[in-house]
This record gives sequence, C-alpha cells and structure tokens, in this order.
Amino acid sequence: MLRVAVLISGAGSNLQALLEATADPAFPAQVVVVGADRQAAGLAHADHFGIPSFVVPWRGAAEREAWGEQLQQQLERWQPDLVVLSGLMKLLPAAVVEAWSPRIVNTHPAYLPEFPGAHGVRDALAAGAARTGASVIVVDSGVDSGPILAQERVPVLPEDDEHTLHERIKPVERRLLIDVVRRIAVGELDLTAASAP
Ligand code: GAR
Repeated sequence: MLRVAVLISGAGSNLQALLEATADPAFPAQVVVVGADRQAAGLAHADHFGIPSFVVPWRGAAEREAWGEQLQQQLERWQPDLVVLSGLMKLLPAAVVEAWSPRIVNTHPAYLPEFPGAHGVRDALAAGAARTGASVIVVDSGVDSGPILAQERVPVLPEDDEHTLHERIKPVERRLLIDVVRRIAVGELDLTAASAP
C-alpha cells in the first residue's frame, strides 16, 4: 500500500477526490497525512475521512527555509512513499524538494510547459489561448518544470472567465492525479525512470 502525504493551501477539491478514491480498500494507495501552509478550508476533508493533518504556517518568503525545515520534520514523521502537492501555493525550499524528488508530484491547471506558476488559468485566458489543460508533474528545482507524468487538453470557451475555466480543468486534474497515484502504487509508473535525464 503506497503511503501518500498531501499538501494543500486552499479548498482541497482535488484532495477530496483523492481521499474518495483511496477510501476504496481496493485502491493501492492510502493518504496518511494532509498538511497545509495555513488553516486551509480543505483540511476539513482530512477530518471528514479521519486522516491526520498538520499546519506549518507560512510566515513570509524571508522565512522560507525555516518553514521548509518544519514541513520536512512533519513529513518525515509520517514516512510517506509519495508527497502530492495538490494546490500548495508556496514554492518549496530546495532542501525539501531534494529530500523527496522524484517522489513528489504536483498538479497544475495548465498544459505544461505552457503557463507555469501561480496563475496558470488566468495566464491562459490573458494569452487568448484556444485551449489549455491540466498536468501532473514531478517536482524538481524549477517552477513547474519537472518531468510530465500525465496531461490532457481542456478547451477554452469564449464565455469563460477564470472561475468557469478552472472549474472545468479541475475534474480533469483529479482524474489524472488519481490515475498517476494508482500507476505509481502498482509499479506501472517509475518516478526515477520518469525523471532520468
Ligand atoms: C488546483 O487547480 C491546482 O492545480 C492548483 O490549485 C488548485 C487547487 O484547487 N495549483 C496550482 O495552481 C499550483 N501552481 P483545490 O484546492 O480545490 O484542490
């Protein structure tokens, strides 16, 4: 059974979908802990499923390294096989990435390498893109620059705003994330091989 830690910042709708999938005893992975950089609304999903959670409050970029050390201590307590960034809106310090990569994946609401960063949906709209997408990647030392594990296109509709487009991307993200976790758990997807230069 693959042990998964999930880190969030927000509503945690993708976390919720992963918790629903992993609640099935036939699913080959389990979420062992959920962490956040703030009192994120999505922590309620962990409570609902009886999964332990922790908060390591973000105190600003000047304290990123200290924040990362506390986060790392929390993660190590739970001994996950895989860390999933599911809407964590903070850049991890290099030491945390180095400790886990390639056993750390991120979901992103765009078709990487298009529109990386914190505003993937907004940036696709601003660029007038006819289509964008969703991606699941390995986290490396760059910003949304790691090896792509799964991705799918989502069309941009003429009437879309950031909210409507994001809400159409998220179900695709969820499906990709759950499938990536499953494939890692059953050995179909080898993160070390996927990350080889
Ligand atoms: C998701 O769309 C995720 O890909 C995105 O935040 C959203 C979180 O939604 N992450 C990023 O943009 C990271 N650069 P949720 O909290 O409802 O799951």
